Amino acid sequence: MTKVITFGNFKGGVGKTMTSVMTALDLSKDGKKVLFIDFDPQGNGSDVLAKTFNINYLDRPTIFEGLEKGELTKSIHILDDNISIVPSDISLVGFQFLLSDLTKNDYSKRAYYLDALIEPIKKDYDFIIIDTPPTISDFTNNAVLASDYIVLVMQTQLWSLYAVETYIPYIHQMNTTYGSECEILGVVSMLLDKKGSVDNDVIRKAKETFGETMFSTLIYNRQRVKRYSSEGVPLLLEKNSSIHDKDALNMYKQLNIEILDRIGDN
Ligand SMILES: Nc1ncnc2c1ncn2[C@@H]1O[C@H](COP(=O)(O)OP(=O)(O)O)[C@@H](O)[C@H]1O
Ligand SMILES: [Mg+2]
Repeated sequence: MTKVITFGNFKGGVGKTMTSVMTALDLSKDGKKVLFIDFDPQGNGSDVLAKTFNINYLDRPTIFEGLEKGELTKSIHILDDNISIVPSDISLVGFQFLLSDLTKNDYSKRAYYLDALIEPIKKDYDFIIIDTPPTISDFTNNAVLASDYIVLVMQTQLWSLYAVETYIPYIHQMNTTYGSECEILGVVSMLLDKKGSVDNDVIRKAKETFGETMFSTLIYNRQRVKRYSSEGVPLLLEKNSSIHDKDALNMYKQLNIEILDRIGDN
């Protein structure tokens, strides 16, 4: 059965997009059929994946046009054998107005709009990964209700921890209000400074608060990963690949192993 996973935090710049992109790539390298839905008007995930596969998204309708027409199939771009994308761009900011137009005062229809459009395409994929903007909004409501699992991304700074702390009751509230069964798969820590006392303090606090929900893999702050946002992600590691690429890709691979383990897909 297709698993839909959203990467979230109500704070920007914490590594949601990079983590969701790396997870999508890892799953596809594992032989799973993956669809990446970029549900953030900033389109950062679309940008990294375009650079990674050296393509552009000019020849097909945007995600917004797909949402307008109520049909996402034509907005899907194939990136490689196992991975496709519904890319986003700034036109997606119109989503909230579109929903007001299309769903009037039907709150349930409004919140389940993305879910309804994903339903007919689900069968073609093992995993659908959704990247979201850092807001409590129609975007996150729609992503949560379309998802089986949420992975929360937390930077090792207090405000990011607080933002994760507010996300958890939000998921529970969504489940109660809409009768959905979205599960929090885990909290992944993005360690900004390995030796930083504040960073380690935040990790300790997060462990106290989230306990077993924390993934044991830590994502470290790496210049190499930062470079991927401008150059794309290397798809293959070779014998002569740089140690920095090996280290960066391996870090996300470990996270992917934990994700699959928790889902029970191994
Ligand atoms: N592990 C990492 N090490 C260093 N820089 C990172 C890492 N992950 C993400 N970044 C960088 O941090 C910035 C924010 O990451 P991004 O994934 O866009 O966060 P978000 O989606 O939460 O806004 C980007 O410039 C990205 O390149
Ligand atoms: Mg992002």
